[in-house]
Amino acid sequence: MDKIERIIREAEKARERAYAPYSKFRVGAALLTQDGSIYTGCNVENASFGAACCAERVAVFKAISDGRRDFTAMAVVSDSQGFTFPCGICRQVMAEFKIPVIIVVDQNGRTAEYKLNDLLPHAFDKIE
Ligand code: THU
Repeated sequence: MDKIERIIREAEKARERAYAPYSKFRVGAALLTQDGSIYTGCNVENASFGAACCAERVAVFKAISDGRRDFTAMAVVSDSQGFTFPCGICRQVMAEFKIPVIIVVDQNGRTAEYKLNDLLPHAFDKIE
């Protein structure tokens, strides 16, 4: 199994661990580092809806808090029939940590690969 297939499988497993009692919309993400390590995330919701965190950011924050900065790709899967694209806040977080490639996967196993730059052109960078 190649690395991209591996992160897709790990994202699917992470989706099973989603805590989404309010939206009932489960999302799983898996982030690949240069040495082949994988950090997964699922969405974690809250009775106070605004306190929810998306699967993608959970994966990034787990990796960053583990000292990792060297990302090569992220896979995202959800419960929807079609592709689920990362929300705007997650795209900005991906830009911060330069995750170059995002792979989205639908329920039929179809995949589509995007450059972060195409999902978030002109990302906010620094306060000059
Ligand atoms: N969600 C994610 O985890 N990632 C996405 O890319 C889109 C949305 C979550 C947030 C919330 O728990 C649920 O999906 C519905 O919006």
